[in-house]
Amino acid sequence: MQNVKLNCGIDMPIIGYGVYMVDPSVTERCVLDALSVGYRSLDTAQYYENEAMVGAAVRKSGVPRDEVFITSKLCQSRPTYAQAKENVKGSLRRMRLDYLDLMLIHWPMGNDGDIWAAFEDLVKEGYLRSIGVSNFYPGQFEKLVREASMIPAVNQIETHVFYQQRPMISKMADAGTVVESWGPLAEGLNGIFTNPVLTEVGAAHGKTAAQVALRFLTQQGIIVIPKSVHKERMIQNLDTLDFDLSQDEMAAIRCLDTGHNLEGWPSDALKYNPETVV
Ligand SMILES: NC(=O)c1ccc[n+]([C@@H]2O[C@H](COP(=O)([O-])OP(=O)(O)OC[C@H]3O[C@@H](n4cnc5c(N)ncnc54)[C@H](OP(=O)(O)O)[C@@H]3O)[C@@H](O)[C@H]2O)c1
Repeated sequence: MQNVKLNCGIDMPIIGYGVYMVDPSVTERCVLDALSVGYRSLDTAQYYENEAMVGAAVRKSGVPRDEVFITSKLCQSRPTYAQAKENVKGSLRRMRLDYLDLMLIHWPMGNDGDIWAAFEDLVKEGYLRSIGVSNFYPGQFEKLVREASMIPAVNQIETHVFYQQRPMISKMADAGTVVESWGPLAEGLNGIFTNPVLTEVGAAHGKTAAQVALRFLTQQGIIVIPKSVHKERMIQNLDTLDFDLSQDEMAAIRCLDTGHNLEGWPSDALKYNPETVV
């Protein structure tokens, strides 16, 4: 598996397995399948209510803990520093893990400086190996970084062929923060799996539209965490690093960018507005 080096010096697999909307009743089976076909990075969150099943699957799989990169995300409105620390320890208890490889603030929570201070101390205390954010746009990101000692290792944002986020990606590169794509398959929307451009490019490489959509991201160094409850699709999504898209193919896919996220918001609407932060 190809890794991406994070700014704190640790490696993160460029492809992982995401478990958003994976029902808790099937999460353990799905994560066991994902580990059995070769995934070594798992993305869960407090909000998904399946952290415990992810931890259980890792233990059951027999894959050594230090060979699996595990991410979770804090979801708590305006916690104090102490509450944020306790919150992260709650994830560890639910997952029955001693440490997490990456903890993210799931979205701006309103007092992100306090959460970040807690995260930084949890790194120093050995509970977290790396820390980052999710759904932070430039104003929110810059505000956090002004108060931080550690620069976020990762910003997990919506990006895919239909919402390519080029300005955001270049800002994160300048900051030394790796972009991780959520919804790398556009959550299966917009006809992505039958898109003519992706299908035609795929045919030239013996790959599916889904595989091309993932390669478009990883070829730019963007981490992807596609979700599927089907083992054959998990295999397909992992089998995406053995071909390169040509400049012409990348250019053709660039034309699929709508400039809007899946809910129809233009990038500008996502800029920081202190009045609308939760
Ligand atoms: N930070 C955030 O706010 C945030 C938000 C959303 C998601 N995430 C993370 O990002 C991960 C991925 O995003 P996502 O789950 O929203 O969407 P996604 O991975 O872009 O798309 C998942 C959809 O595509 C289908 N699919 C997957 N592989 C396929 C293939 N090879 N061929 C055909 N269909 C395929 C899945 O169906 P089946 O399951 O039926 O195969 C599912 O309907 C999440 O699981 C979560 O970990 C984070």
